[in-house]
Amino acid sequence: MMVREVDAVVFDAYGTLFDLASALAGEERALGERGPRLGELWRRKQLEYTWLRSLMRRHADFAQVTAEALDHALAALGIADAPLRHRLLGAYRRLAAYPEVPAMLAELRGRGLVTAILSNGEPEMLHDAVAAAGLAGLLDHVLSVEAVGVFKPDPRVYQHAQTVLGLRRARIGFVSANAWDAHGGASFGFRTWWVNRTGAPPEPLPGELAGTLPDLAALPTLVTAG
Ligand code: LAC
Repeated sequence: MMVREVDAVVFDAYGTLFDLASALAGEERALGERGPRLGELWRRKQLEYTWLRSLMRRHADFAQVTAEALDHALAALGIADAPLRHRLLGAYRRLAAYPEVPAMLAELRGRGLVTAILSNGEPEMLHDAVAAAGLAGLLDHVLSVEAVGVFKPDPRVYQHAQTVLGLRRARIGFVSANAWDAHGGASFGFRTWWVNRTGAPPEPLPGELAGTLPDLAALPTLVTAG
């Protein structure tokens, strides 16, 4: 008999299911060796702005924050190129999924688990990314922080997923490649796995993780047994 560790698995989106590096693919000519630095600064500022806006209680949606972070990153690198900015923001709406993602989601559902996204992304950008990556039929719920008007790791965000799923916290698996988000979910009480694709050192934050994975391939066997 198959024993399930959890009844649903909730995924972070950006960096976990969707490969952020794919936003910069095809821009080698425009960016040259500045590409990796731009990608790193864009992501770091995007996250910083979410945390700062939450602390300031000045929420704006993730599409706006993403554009504002890109503006800062471009300015910091001395790049003034409006068409490039436009292309990058367009590419962010149709990121590639990591290669193991479709089969992994299909297998989870085949094992009787509910699958969901819980993301900072606003509903339209999430819809576009899910559709572009061909994941629409593999997810039972695509949940956005816009339902609560604050960013991760505010516990109200994780609470929103629990409310929609209608399960006990310990029966909900949470998976994020962002260690701070994994700890946010674990601190809330989800059974949480951190996807550490880069071999980063652990983050000493509250919330005990159930485990760490190199990618998502082994997740279905991890959350079910027998
Ligand atoms: C998200 C960001 C944290 O999708 O990657 O919520």
